Amino acid sequence: MRKKISDSDYRIYFGSAQHMDEIKDGEVSLVVSSPPYFNAPFDYPDLFKNYSEYLKLLENLAKQLRRIVAEGRIVAIVTDDMLVKGAKFPIVADTTRAFVDADFKYRERITWLKPKGYVRISRRSGVLLQHPYPMYYYPDNIQESILIFQNGDYTYKERKVLSKKMLEKSRIDLKEYNSDDLYLNTWNVTNVLPLKGRLEEGIAAFPDEIARRLIMLYSYYGETVLDPFLGSGTTLKVAMEIGRKGIGYELDLELQSIIKKKLKVGQNRLDKNFNVEFVVKKDAKKLRTELNKKVGMQKSVT
Ligand SMILES: C[S@@+](CC[C@H](N)C(=O)[O-])C[C@H]1O[C@@H](n2cnc3c(N)ncnc32)[C@H](O)[C@@H]1O
Repeated sequence: MRKKISDSDYRIYFGSAQHMDEIKDGEVSLVVSSPPYFNAPFDYPDLFKNYSEYLKLLENLAKQLRRIVAEGRIVAIVTDDMLVKGAKFPIVADTTRAFVDADFKYRERITWLKPKGYVRISRRSGVLLQHPYPMYYYPDNIQESILIFQNGDYTYKERKVLSKKMLEKSRIDLKEYNSDDLYLNTWNVTNVLPLKGRLEEGIAAFPDEIARRLIMLYSYYGETVLDPFLGSGTTLKVAMEIGRKGIGYELDLELQSIIKKKLKVGQNRLDKNFNVEFVVKKDAKKLRTELNKKVGMQKSVT
């Protein structure tokens, strides 16, 4: 049975995104999210029993989003193929397949390019330096995919029904569009390194700029953005900053204090009228301490 819908501007549910029953049909105008990177050795070692369990999560996500996302609107998934124990898992292709099978339109794939040298984990490319012969080529990975799916056809009605003021607040800055090469499907954006002492330590967070671009390009002022895998809370932080409402799900209850810090909950902020609600569901888990212990035991992925 569907739970009572809250009217808070920002709602954060600790519990699995497998059951997003608190969200009304068509309530969400945009989804911006990066699902866990399967069993990524430096983030989520052994989080999933096997790859089929991971695929089920993606398939179920796509099915639920068909109901939750408004007609014609966008789901943006930031993801990448993942190297686990020497073999790459085709996560980009399989995510695309899951959304196409759930009847989403596959609209775009943007490549997010990170600066050279911003490699989080061991430099695989060093192998060839030690063995300068054929078959020792393992390039460093400095890209991810941003997959853009559309929930049916868009009618462009918002432009006609929104007030002049709201429309003005949603207007895209064409100077930025040109100068930051937003008209291209490769985006050069510096990534967040989850270094010791950072708020995002141990969380595979994307930078604010990725969330900001997606929210600005695919939602109108005042609309609701969902992140089913909230992590440190980047999507909702940016949504707050640029005048969108937000909903987040996060399985790991241990991230609650990090999300609160990122959203400046309980701290002085300019706009005190934000209404942020936290709900802990029965299926919330405590993951981070355990995962960090396992990450500490990893040596190299090469
Ligand atoms: C790649 S991280 C998201 C990082 C986020 N974009 C940020 O900027 O901080 C994926 C998150 O999904 C969470 N997660 C894993 N399985 C989940 C599930 N079934 N439901 C909700 N969250 C889940 C993990 O705990 C992790 O925090």
